Amino acid sequence: MPNADVLKLSQRYLDLIAGRAMSLEEKHAFIAETVESYEKHVNRGFLSYRKSVTQAGQYAALEWSGQGSMLKDLLDREYIDCLGGYGIFSAGINHPKIVKAVQDQMGRMALNSQELLEPWRAGLARLLAAVTPGDIGCCFFINNGTDAIEGAIKLARLYTKRNVFISTLGGFHGKSMGSLSLMGKASFREPFERGLQDVRFVPYGDADALDQQMCVLEAVGQLPAAVVVEPVQGEAGGVAPPPGYLTRVREICTRHGALFIADEIQTGMGRTGKLWGVDHDGVTPDIMCMGKSLGGGVMPLAAFVATPKVWEVMIPNPIIHSTTFGGNPIACAAGIAAITVTLEEDLPGQAAAKGDYLLKELGALQKKYPQVLTGVQGKGLLIGMTFPSDPIGFQCAAGLFKRGVLVAGTYSKASTIRIEPPLGIPQALLGEMLTRLEDTFREIGR
Ligand SMILES: Cc1ncc(COP(=O)(O)O)c(C=O)c1O
Repeated sequence: MPNADVLKLSQRYLDLIAGRAMSLEEKHAFIAETVESYEKHVNRGFLSYRKSVTQAGQYAALEWSGQGSMLKDLLDREYIDCLGGYGIFSAGINHPKIVKAVQDQMGRMALNSQELLEPWRAGLARLLAAVTPGDIGCCFFINNGTDAIEGAIKLARLYTKRNVFISTLGGFHGKSMGSLSLMGKASFREPFERGLQDVRFVPYGDADALDQQMCVLEAVGQLPAAVVVEPVQGEAGGVAPPPGYLTRVREICTRHGALFIADEIQTGMGRTGKLWGVDHDGVTPDIMCMGKSLGGGVMPLAAFVATPKVWEVMIPNPIIHSTTFGGNPIACAAGIAAITVTLEEDLPGQAAAKGDYLLKELGALQKKYPQVLTGVQGKGLLIGMTFPSDPIGFQCAAGLFKRGVLVAGTYSKASTIRIEPPLGIPQALLGEMLTRLEDTFREIGR
C-alpha cells in the first residue's frame, strides 16, 4: 500500500480514537472492516473460537466503552460485566481515581529514561511492602503475569541453586516456555513438550500428596527449588483448596528447604475476599507473583515480590534480570492508585460479602435446575459454574451474552463458566444478572 493510503487509514483510526462520531451505516461498515482485519491480519480462528458471542449471533460486537461494571459495544448495546476482563477489572472499568493518576503522570512523562531513579517504582514498592504479608517487600515490576512467573522461577533457581519445581494439576501460570512448564493442563503443554523447566505435578489441595512428592524427590537427590501454588485456582474455575492447605504448603516447603511461590496473579488485590489469597491462612510465602488488577484495570502491571532473605541474590548484579518497560511511571502510578482504591473502598470486604451472596443464590439455582447447573464453587468473587458438558457451558455463556451479561469459560475447562465481576459491582446488578441467568437456564432446560 502506498504511504499516502497508509496515512489516510491511520488518520481515520486516530480520528475515531479521538472521538469522531459515526453514523449507523458507518458503524456497520466499521464492524465489517474489523471482522475482516481479524480474519486476515489477527487470527481468523479467534472469531469462531469465541463461541459464547458467536452462538449468540453477535460475534461482531466491538467493545467500545465502559465504566464501573458496565460496558458498551459500538452499537450502544450495554453489558453487565461479570467477567472483569479475566480478572483485571477488580476496581471496575476506568475507575476515575486510577485514570486520573495515569493521566497526571502521562502529562508529565509517560515512560522513563531508565537511567535515573524512578520515583513511582520506588513508591509502589514501598506500598506493596506495607500491604503484603510478613517481611515480603522487595519488588520487581513487569507488564504481565507470565513475566512475573518467569522472574519468580529465575529467582528461585538463583537462590536455591536447584531446578526442580512442583506445580499442581489444573494450575495455570502463563504460556511462555518457562511458565508453560508449570501448566497443569495437557492441551496447552503437549504441542511444546518438553518444557524448559523440570516440573513434577501433585493434585491441587492435597497437602499429603505434596509432602509425599517432596520425600520422593529428596530420596532420589532431586531437591526442589520451589512449589508454585495458586491460593484459589482461577483458570481451573474458582477451585478453592480445603482450609489450612496453604498453611501446610508453607510448613512442607520450610521442612524440605524449598521456596513457596504463591501465584496471586488472579487471586490478589481482594479478588477472593482478602487482599491476598494467602491471607485466608495467614501465611507468608517466600515469593509472591501478582498482576492483572494490580494495574487497576487501566495499565498492564505485574510484579514478583520476595522476602529480603531471598532477594539478597538479586543484589550483586541488579541487572541479572531486567526489562525495558517494567516499572514504568504510568504503570506504577496506576498501581499506586489501584492499591489506594482497593483499601479506600474495601474491595476485599465487598468481594467476601458479594461472593457469599452469589454462592448462596447460585446454590439455590443449582437445586432448581440440576440438569443444567451441576456445580458451583469459588471464593469471594472468583466463582465457577460447572455444566454437564462443553456445549451446555457455551449455551449458558451465549444465552447470557444475548441477555446483556458478559461471562466466559475458563482456560482449563470449557464446561466451566466463570463469574468474576468488578468487586464494587452494585448489588442490584448482581440481582439482575441472576434473573437473566435463571432465564437462560429455563431456555436451556426446555
Ligand atoms: C494464576 C495466573 N497466573 C498467571 C497468569 C498469566 O498472566 P498473564 O496473562 O498476565 O501473562 C494468569 C492469567 O490468567 C493466571 O490466572
